Amino acid sequence: MARLIAVSINCRNEAARQTFEEIVSRRRDYLVTKGQGTGAADMLLLELDEFRPQQTFGHIRELLGASPDLEVFLTASRTDPQVLLDAFRVGVKEFLPQPLTRQEVEPALVRFEERFNGRMLATERQSGRVVSVIGARGGMGASTVATNLAMSIQQVSRQEPVALVDLDLHGGDLGLFLDLRPSQGLKHLSKDISRLDETIVRSSLAKHSSGLHLLSSGYEGFEEVAQAPGSTMRVLGLLRSMHQHMVIDCGHVLDPAVKESLDCSDQIIVVMTLSLPAIRRTKRLLDVLRMAVYPSGKVGVVVNRYSNDQKDLLTETESLLGLPMAGLIPNDYGTASEAINHGKPLTIMASKTSIGQWYLRGTGPLIDDKGSVGGNGHGKGVEKKSSFIGRCFSTLGLETGSKPFVA
Ligand SMILES: Nc1ncnc2c1ncn2[C@@H]1O[C@H](COP(=O)(O)OP(=O)(O)O)[C@@H](O)[C@H]1O
Ligand SMILES: [Mg+2]
Repeated sequence: MARLIAVSINCRNEAARQTFEEIVSRRRDYLVTKGQGTGAADMLLLELDEFRPQQTFGHIRELLGASPDLEVFLTASRTDPQVLLDAFRVGVKEFLPQPLTRQEVEPALVRFEERFNGRMLATERQSGRVVSVIGARGGMGASTVATNLAMSIQQVSRQEPVALVDLDLHGGDLGLFLDLRPSQGLKHLSKDISRLDETIVRSSLAKHSSGLHLLSSGYEGFEEVAQAPGSTMRVLGLLRSMHQHMVIDCGHVLDPAVKESLDCSDQIIVVMTLSLPAIRRTKRLLDVLRMAVYPSGKVGVVVNRYSNDQKDLLTETESLLGLPMAGLIPNDYGTASEAINHGKPLTIMASKTSIGQWYLRGTGPLIDDKGSVGGNGHGKGVEKKSSFIGRCFSTLGLETGSKPFVA
């Protein structure tokens, strides 16, 4: 999972703080958090209290006890060999003497990145699968697909909670789909990611009687979207480490936060209908997604509200988009609307209807365990990971090849 490295700085010496922040910010993939907390930080630059070093060491012990993966960089104006020895004994990873210089800081960051990437690979192997669902435009059925997909996985997984995330920052209403009271959700959690930890994330989840966990968006749709860069990915990363399966309703706007979600997903499902405006928007959306150069098979398209008299239009659409559809969801407006109005998923309320059956049976081939939509791609992690974020940061000339994402 591509993600930014969250850095927290706790340093009284203003020059040291500024130099470190400057060097770190120039490197790719770092994000300096605003708060003083270390809940979700990967790295902390901490200044030694030279009069009371033991107090600093006690603090470090506590921090590492709570977050074993946190790396502490210690900085001080004096270098006392005994103090250094004690510092490394309590778990400090790097010592940076003041005044901080590029020659000292950069090699320390390179060493950090090597350790961090190793940890990420190990975590990625263990962590859950993430599916993002995005509508080609509003009203396509993205929320219906995300909710019922999550619910059908939940009904199979039973014991293990599945996470459903409402990432519609322009008025998410998944709480209504499941008759759950929306919590402050993502908006609240993203405000200060330096304070984030599993307990805080867990307390923000609404729990459905099926076992499913919902993180609501917290956005009503009338306010300005204020997701700090990297914060969505951070919240999703924590949720992912707590759930084997996660489904994200991305709405239909390619906000920066939605791009973060797409980047860190194993699979992306674009929901469309066979109407001309939807076909045009889907073509455009696929072109934009191609620019992220995702691995083949990561992106798939499902047609919602499909009826059998649309066969010819379906064939034409597939040839226009240059890919076969990963799923055809039957059209049944009455049942779909009734389910929403009752706050019940189709997989429970209408399990015997064709649409309910589709969600109960049709999602297996849609999402395979190898990280491809429609089973037509390559395995997870086999190909080089790419991203919108990677492309923003990548130097000119890198990753410019337009590679198809569906085999
Ligand atoms: N398979 C379907 N057949 C008919 N109507 C559907 C189907 N799936 C969803 N709908 C209806 O489409 C409308 C929009 O669905 P919604 O999931 O809210 O879309 P989005 O999240 O993309 O805006 C709702 O009224 C819903 O009942
Ligand atoms: Mg929606």
